[in-house]
Amino acid sequence: MKFAVASLLAFVATAVSASPTLESRASKPKGIDVSHYQGTVNFAAAKANGVSFAFIKATEGHTYKDPSFSANYVAATNAGILRGGYHFAHPDSSSGAAQANFFLAHGGGWSKDGRTLPGALDIEYNPSGSKCYGLSASAMVAWIKDFSNTYHSHTGVYPIIYTTTDWWKTCTGNSAAFGNTNPLWIAHYASSIGALPAGWGFTTFWQYADKGSLGPGDQDEFNGTLEGLKKIALG
Ligand SMILES: *[C@@H]1O[C@H](CO)[C@@H](O)[C@H](O)[C@H]1NC(C)=O
Repeated sequence: MKFAVASLLAFVATAVSASPTLESRASKPKGIDVSHYQGTVNFAAAKANGVSFAFIKATEGHTYKDPSFSANYVAATNAGILRGGYHFAHPDSSSGAAQANFFLAHGGGWSKDGRTLPGALDIEYNPSGSKCYGLSASAMVAWIKDFSNTYHSHTGVYPIIYTTTDWWKTCTGNSAAFGNTNPLWIAHYASSIGALPAGWGFTTFWQYADKGSLGPGDQDEFNGTLEGLKKIALG
């Protein structure tokens, strides 16, 4: 994932990608996640490449709206791809509730229409900010709870949590408080998933590379069948 005011150099340093194609993963639905960095994405082509779902950046903090969100959301819809929005968290700039409401008002909403995935909270290191946004582990857990509960009270579903195991351990103290409610979307650029954060026995989505043959943007897979993915879009 990339955010609006990032130091690109920091990404270059970490952008070592692997694109595993293990047979055991062949049947799992594939997806991409994109932001304005990818411009307007050709989702019809992505679908032809085997993309079944997409996460599209909607918002960041409590003021930033991704300028490509609407065009990409419409394009994914027209291509018949299951899609949802994601929000890049800035836990240092406003409350979790404020950012959930901003996300809900600008593309992150959810309804039981069979083609919308629950919104995702993208919470990870921000190379241009202070470590863990200057929050203690308990304050970070409270912030995520505030975001998650606000999202749930408006939509009836809990947001997906996108993170890395390293960030989660470092900045939440490896909190196990979300494993029973929020689907996990783990970023781990390797041929196997690796250790998961506390609380989750499995991951629902896996971002396994930051580029690849599926289409522009990060490469993802759903840990289940296409039927299972469709069920998530029905809550
Ligand atoms: C995928 O989900 C199953 C449970 O449905 C779980 O047993 C498995 O460990 C999960 N895979 C990963 C990589 O988390």
